[in-house]
Amino acid sequence: MADLTSNFLGISSPNPFWLASAPPTDKAYNVERAFEAGWGGVVWKTLGSEGPPVVNVNGPRYGAIYGHDRHLIGLNNIELITDRDLYVNLKEITEVKKRWPDRAIIVSLMVPCEEESWKAILPLVEETGADGIELNFGCPHGMSERGMGAAVGQVPEYIQMVTEWCKKYYSKPVIVKLTPNITDVRYPARAAKNGGADAVSLINTINSIVEVDLDNFAPVPTIDGKGSHGGYCGPAVKPIAMNMVSEIARDQETAGLPISGIGGITTWRDAAEFISLGCGNVQVCTAAMTYGFKVVQEMITGLSDWMDEKGIKSIDEFVGRAVPNVTDWKYLNLNYVTKAKINQDLCIECGRCYIACEDTSHQAITNMLDGKRHFEVIDEECVGCNLCVNVCPVDDCITMEAIDGTDPRTGKPVDPEYANWTTHPNNPSAKTEAAE
Ligand SMILES: Cc1cc2nc3c(=O)[nH]c(=O)nc-3n(C[C@H](O)[C@H](O)[C@H](O)COP(=O)(O)O)c2cc1C
Ligand code: SF4
Ligand code: SF4
Repeated sequence: MADLTSNFLGISSPNPFWLASAPPTDKAYNVERAFEAGWGGVVWKTLGSEGPPVVNVNGPRYGAIYGHDRHLIGLNNIELITDRDLYVNLKEITEVKKRWPDRAIIVSLMVPCEEESWKAILPLVEETGADGIELNFGCPHGMSERGMGAAVGQVPEYIQMVTEWCKKYYSKPVIVKLTPNITDVRYPARAAKNGGADAVSLINTINSIVEVDLDNFAPVPTIDGKGSHGGYCGPAVKPIAMNMVSEIARDQETAGLPISGIGGITTWRDAAEFISLGCGNVQVCTAAMTYGFKVVQEMITGLSDWMDEKGIKSIDEFVGRAVPNVTDWKYLNLNYVTKAKINQDLCIECGRCYIACEDTSHQAITNMLDGKRHFEVIDEECVGCNLCVNVCPVDDCITMEAIDGTDPRTGKPVDPEYANWTTHPNNPSAKTEAAE
């Protein structure tokens, strides 16, 4: 059986599934129930400085985007960091770590961007016996207005400076949690590395307004007639998170920097995708908030079964396996030609592929044959764009098939050799290069 043991930054946990810093990890009661359910580790809900705790709104703090059947695909929140007393949290962390020595406990932190504030809190965290810290440079609402969270994460110099302070006053691993609310995630990741971070984790939530109430014309969630932007997470953000993860994994300057992947992870498959893009482990929030702690059990058995099927013995064996296959558009093989193919036995004749291709693609699907509904691809018109596959409601009914010989659309032979845009005759730069 596959070994799911994770050794992220030398922190051992029985599996690579950690709960992300959020309501599921806000107190000992939650964390211990999560461990009982099987979670390998947690990042404790973000702690702030000593003093009166932050205050949350007393009205709705969540909004959501739904798919069919009210299936939750995106969650928006305006919650702040923990609103519980610092010392209560530290005491609980100490006790839980003692009771669960085989699970990872990371303490998430967000204090003012001043060396004294970090110097004050880090020894207190060190005393808890927790395995490491995560710097919350990502919270996009409330705290950022006070110069913390995303306000730090958006300025690489601040990231580097605070990370350096943490490495100075804390002896265990320091993970820098990045905000996606920036233009190019490689810059904050590089800053974290330059500051001495042991790893980065991403993504925190994305700035969002998920709904406007059209009766009172205010964003949802609405607090006494007003709303503010929140942080978006859940399955909808997974593609954005995976792209950012892959950018860091591919970047020469950060290649090899351990990554903890976060964003929309709901199933073992999501986790496996993040790991193959370079993550040493993964963190989950929305899936636990939607389905409860036991969702981890499907993740564990699913990942283990898949690894067995593939003959993969350990997590480390497939970390980053997909990274070499992520490339820039200009390196894609322009001689690779595909055509859509409809399996007539599976087709339910709904006509979606026809409408999509006829109205917005290349008029490459028939809708009638001998006066009857019939959907078939016209190879002479098909550019292989995949849109029909994406809109067809039946799994595997339309497949994309690579062709050789002559392309009926262009009438030209399909060149079996790899060739990309950098050498294509239509590329003005390629011509310049060739002329030089
Ligand atoms: C209600 C809520 C509160 C959160 N609070 C924190 C927090 O205190 N610190 C933090 O670093 N991230 C916080 N997050 C962000 C999550 O840790 C995670 O980065 C984000 O939700 C993306 O993961 P997901 O798609 O699995 O939910 C919070 C998320 C939610 C939904
Ligand atoms: S792959 Fe694109 S062009 Fe070809 S049939 Fe489908 S939608 Fe039309
Ligand atoms: S979308 Fe799929 S099921 Fe519907 S007509 Fe096209 S091939 Fe058939």
